[in-house]
Amino acid sequence: MPSFLQTFLLLALVSFVLAAPFPEQVQKRSFKVERVANPHFKRSLGHKRAPGAGPRALVRAYRKFGMPLPEALGAIIANAGAGSSAAGLATELSDILGDGGEAGSTSKGKEKGKPKLRPSPAPTGLPSAAPPATGVPKFSNSTGGAGSVANTPEAGDVEYLAPVTIGGQTVNMDFDSGSSDLWVFNTQLSLNTLSGHMAYNPAQSSTFQLLPGSTFSISYGDGSGAAGNVGTDTVNIGGATVTGQAIELATDVSTSFVTDTQSTGLIGLAFSKLNTVKPVQQKTFFDNALATLPEPVFTADLRHNAAGTYEFGAIDSTKFSGPLAWTPVNTTSGFWQFTSQAFAVGGGAPSTSVPGGQAIADTGTTLMLADQSVVDGYYSQVQGAVNNATVGGVTFPCSATLPDLQIDVGGTMATVRGDDINFAPVDQTGTTCFGGLQATTVQPQIYGDIFFKSNFVAFNGGNNSLGVAPHQ
Ligand SMILES: *[C@@H]1O[C@H](CO)[C@@H](O)[C@H](O)[C@H]1NC(C)=O
Ligand SMILES: *[C@@H]1O[C@H](CO)[C@@H](O)[C@H](O)[C@H]1NC(C)=O
Ligand SMILES: *[C@@H]1O[C@H](CO)[C@@H](O)[C@H](O)[C@H]1NC(C)=O
Ligand SMILES: *[C@@H]1O[C@H](CO)[C@@H](O)[C@H](O)[C@H]1NC(C)=O
Repeated sequence: MPSFLQTFLLLALVSFVLAAPFPEQVQKRSFKVERVANPHFKRSLGHKRAPGAGPRALVRAYRKFGMPLPEALGAIIANAGAGSSAAGLATELSDILGDGGEAGSTSKGKEKGKPKLRPSPAPTGLPSAAPPATGVPKFSNSTGGAGSVANTPEAGDVEYLAPVTIGGQTVNMDFDSGSSDLWVFNTQLSLNTLSGHMAYNPAQSSTFQLLPGSTFSISYGDGSGAAGNVGTDTVNIGGATVTGQAIELATDVSTSFVTDTQSTGLIGLAFSKLNTVKPVQQKTFFDNALATLPEPVFTADLRHNAAGTYEFGAIDSTKFSGPLAWTPVNTTSGFWQFTSQAFAVGGGAPSTSVPGGQAIADTGTTLMLADQSVVDGYYSQVQGAVNNATVGGVTFPCSATLPDLQIDVGGTMATVRGDDINFAPVDQTGTTCFGGLQATTVQPQIYGDIFFKSNFVAFNGGNNSLGVAPHQ
């Protein structure tokens, strides 16, 4: 089965390294940009956390990393349309898995075919750059010093979007420290697919250049994802600017992205070795900007049901308390990965239950997925917590007071607040809640937005390390 890791480790073999051009001057500026409202979006749930958001987020995480679904989730999806009370949820979960989704897929895993998504050639008439000489990535420049943008959670904190300006056009993108492609909804997609979405129009950008013959295809292991052709343009995130940034123009996207009308695409912020552009792999926005940033960092400040900030080039110490605890990153797999072997509950004695355990810091995953031993140890301290087969994950009474979780981040214990682990009600009655901490079926563990809501995180591309401190 082609997993996210395997697919991209192969691609890593053909990765290229190129020194970033040096800046003529570094300006230590910081910028704030307001979020852009999507005029096409109709909000139906207000700010209440959406029922069913928990199982949806869990299925998305499994999808993203191509992990086999646990029996319980597989069974729910297999019941889609069976007329049970869970049928609505089941159908929806099945939709999230998209065309590649395997109803009834179990922990045995399933042999998945090749990704169904295929790039289409770009329309003629777009300005083209000369094709890159074999093996030599196109240069990109970066200017403008630091940048900072407000990020805003969608209802239920399922994803955090922030404005990005591409060739002068501002769209809302999902910043994803767990992948390395910058791909965008654009005017090559059908009107049906674009319905409700903002879209980037390369023909309206004076700085766009097609990279003739370049394509991308990002697959999240089960066949869902995006594919298309590739160009370059100027990208500005809150003032941090890169010219000649690879923009991946989707011509095919899976169902889950089509239905998520708030997001115009993803900004991948993991290491460039995971980038899927062929024939010449492209660098991430962060890698391109690195040389001109005042400090070689970007930071994630994500809040529960409130705007936070993504910042490039500076660490804003008003956003966290105490010093940042720094831990080295294991870049082997291209993720922001670190050792995570131990946990404690409510400040109790730590247990090293995951010897040799690793985890990744992933802003693009909603939940926190940890080893089964962590999940079992934590919820043993929560009255009424059960592994609930109806929704395929741990639930507990919404009225429960959850203890804090301490989790090992490279040898330092970081705290995830109990309040942040109480993720969302599973139904309209609001009596049963879905846990923000759920079990993974494989290593590495995935520490998503639940972890970030409790902790400010600095991603340091200068010395490949992560700095973590509790939110202010
Ligand atoms: C990079 O910067 C140099 C000097 O400022 C400029 O001449 C060149 O056109 C830029 N390249 C790109 C791809 O924007
Ligand atoms: C990385 O650099 C930061 C400064 O930006 C420093 O405080 C930290 O100790 C370094 N971390 C490692 C693991 O070298
Ligand atoms: C780094 O990550 C790789 C891939 O996940 C893993 O096999 C390896 O053991 C890790 N190295 C260290 C020193 O933890
Ligand atoms: C399992 O989840 C369902 C919601 O789908 C809920 O009605 C039920 O009470 C939960 N079971 C337990 C034991 O909490």
